Amino acid sequence: MSFVTVRDLFQTYGNRPIIERVNVDVAEGEFISIVGASGCGKSTFLRLLLAQERPTRGEIRIDGAEPAREPGLDRGIVFQRYSVFPHMTVRDNIVAGESFRAGWGRFFGDAAKAARDRADQTLARIGLDHVADNYPATLSGGMQQRLAIAQALAAKPRVLLLDEPFGALDPGTRLSMHDFLQDLRAETGMTVFMVTHDLEEAFKLGDRVLVFDKPRWDPHDPSRYGATITYDFDARDGGIPFQTLKENIHVPEPH
Ligand SMILES: Nc1ncnc2c1ncn2[C@@H]1O[C@H](COP(=O)(O)OP(=O)(O)OP(=O)(O)O)[C@@H](O)[C@H]1O
Ligand SMILES: [Mg+2]
Repeated sequence: MSFVTVRDLFQTYGNRPIIERVNVDVAEGEFISIVGASGCGKSTFLRLLLAQERPTRGEIRIDGAEPAREPGLDRGIVFQRYSVFPHMTVRDNIVAGESFRAGWGRFFGDAAKAARDRADQTLARIGLDHVADNYPATLSGGMQQRLAIAQALAAKPRVLLLDEPFGALDPGTRLSMHDFLQDLRAETGMTVFMVTHDLEEAFKLGDRVLVFDKPRWDPHDPSRYGATITYDFDARDGGIPFQTLKENIHVPEPH
């Protein structure tokens, strides 16, 4: 059963086609990695899923309905650069993530205390309990990114959109973030779309790897055509080994 359905999707800025004729069906709980050259429209695709902008043509359905324009209710997003609130403490950032779902400013009295307790449990799980009262600027990049992901998840989104979420992290932190994300995903059964420039990461975490590329190319006018999904790889256990793919198939490198 398709949970996220994309049909004949086009996005054009001015007269410049960015993505064209994108079709994809995603089951609930699937982890979709998205790779492709820089500028080919991966972030644009995520913005369309988030309903931050409307497509030029085509449609998106999430659980049978057009994606709602309000953020945080059914979809959470994490960008490469941390999207936490700098003027709030670490704990309040998690509470704010949850209040997205409840409607802003709903937490008073006992409800506020309960929300803070839940936030502290989350922080303990991700190893940030010792900095609960600090401000994000005092944390390392890896800690801030962990906070951003935990904040997005506090709203319990059914769909999590990740735009190069680990790009700025050192290799060790990146691996522990992979574990964190895999644990949360196993627990919640959420559907994930993750853009990454790291092919190995794409195959490690994804059930499927979608490649965005331009199927048509005009050497005299590179912006004439848009990108679409040119490959849709099964990356689950038993899928084609990553190394074989890498050796035999052209996947556009970022440039
Ligand atoms: N709001 C906008 N108006 C006009 N052009 C835009 C807009 N947003 C993006 N673009 C252009 O659309 C193209 C696709 O951008 P997008 O950010 O989706 O690429 P990307 O695949 O995410 O690239 P990267 O890997 O570098 O993040 C780029 O050429 C960009 O300049
Ligand atoms: Mg991008």
